Amino acid sequence: MSSASNGSASGQPPLAQSSSSPAQLNQSSTGQSSTGQSSTGQSPTGQSHLGQSPTGQSHLTQRYQHAVMNTFGPPKRVFVRGEGVHLWDADGNRYLDLLAGLAVNSLGHAHPQVIGAISAQLSTLGHVSNFFATPTQIALAERLCGFVTLNDPGREARVFFTNSGTEANEAGFKITRRTGRTRLIAMQGSFHGRSLGALALTSNPAYREPFEPLPGEVTFVPYGDADALAQALDDTVAAVILEPIQGENGVVEPPSDYLAAVRALTTNAGALLWIDEVQTGIGRCGEWLASAHSGVTGDIVTFAKGLGNGFPVGACVATGPAASLLGPGSHGTTFGGNPVAAAAGLAVLGIIERDGLLARVRTAGERLASGIEGLEHARISHVRGRGLLRGVVLTEPVAPAVADAALTAGFVINAPRPNVLRLAPPLIIPDAELDRFVDALPGLLDSV
Ligand SMILES: Cc1ncc(COP(=O)(O)O)c(C=O)c1O
Repeated sequence: MSSASNGSASGQPPLAQSSSSPAQLNQSSTGQSSTGQSSTGQSPTGQSHLGQSPTGQSHLTQRYQHAVMNTFGPPKRVFVRGEGVHLWDADGNRYLDLLAGLAVNSLGHAHPQVIGAISAQLSTLGHVSNFFATPTQIALAERLCGFVTLNDPGREARVFFTNSGTEANEAGFKITRRTGRTRLIAMQGSFHGRSLGALALTSNPAYREPFEPLPGEVTFVPYGDADALAQALDDTVAAVILEPIQGENGVVEPPSDYLAAVRALTTNAGALLWIDEVQTGIGRCGEWLASAHSGVTGDIVTFAKGLGNGFPVGACVATGPAASLLGPGSHGTTFGGNPVAAAAGLAVLGIIERDGLLARVRTAGERLASGIEGLEHARISHVRGRGLLRGVVLTEPVAPAVADAALTAGFVINAPRPNVLRLAPPLIIPDAELDRFVDALPGLLDSV
């Protein structure tokens, strides 16, 4: 997990090193052409016959397109190194990372203490299988149970560890099946992952329809509408799943009293409340759980993304009676709960706590949102979200073009909706870097 990962798997020399200077910061590498769309010159052996640097972006992009399934479209850049809030591409250009690997690198890139914790665990005990336990796994489970029951201390809670958000939701899905009920209610605009169970709970037809039939009996109701939920809920419903803020839908927040209303409705119907904190949790919104400020406790809470700072780790935490619904043999995983992943998670939690990052995220998020709204730019409608998960809502559907312009200018952001820019920087981002992006934003908006 060190900068040695700059070396390529084919034994080529290390790629671009940390040689970039501030002068390179806003330098475009080669613009969109750097993604190397030409089909000529591709070689299954990875040998360039275009006269390009074998370690440059164009060449690497061609090799990517030849060897990696086209599920994500062509890569916008090939990154070779990260440090703190910055990334470097294979041509040596530096970028300010305002996306953090989609809300993952909460402590930035190559955090020395996370690396230290991972390395120490790996050199002590790397993997043992789930026939056995390890102290790091137990300690991380205890911490997550504590977060989930913060509003209801003493409530029973247990964890099933996974490697990703979608797997955490698969575990949640299986828990719901053990209630004896099979109907599920999910939200319009939801995103819960791409494996078949999680996909069944994800509302976007473009993601769902090519893979139907999906595990059934899922009803989608309007997000944020407690009356609509009340109408759909009855005693056949096993669980209601929702995100505290819909990140993939463009950072959409429900009304402030919504979660409490959903908690009351699900309790009355004898249904589980399942809160997907995969994107919003672990400090991203200024609390361990974005749902915490509503005072509710979920029966199922799922985590991933920011928990491992890039090391794959996810968790499904169940509370109360739901904590005992999966018994021996009912679910499993080879890698989930791996001690190295657990060490990464424990390090992340410890650093967030030690450095007071939850409070820092709240003030940084306010600074970012008020700075952007203060621009009073004609193309900006408003900023939504909480902490350092923010959606900049534009007045026109130009967000993908603005995100591309930002990348060319050295800022990594993305456009989850045609009219929304998403900002999810590392939680450690300094004010000066936030301000630098805010200062650049009018020019980016005007350039498209
Ligand atoms: C709310 C939510 N749930 C689940 C997932 C799926 O997580 P993963 O991509 O780790 O499978 C995501 C990913 O974006 C997410 O935002």
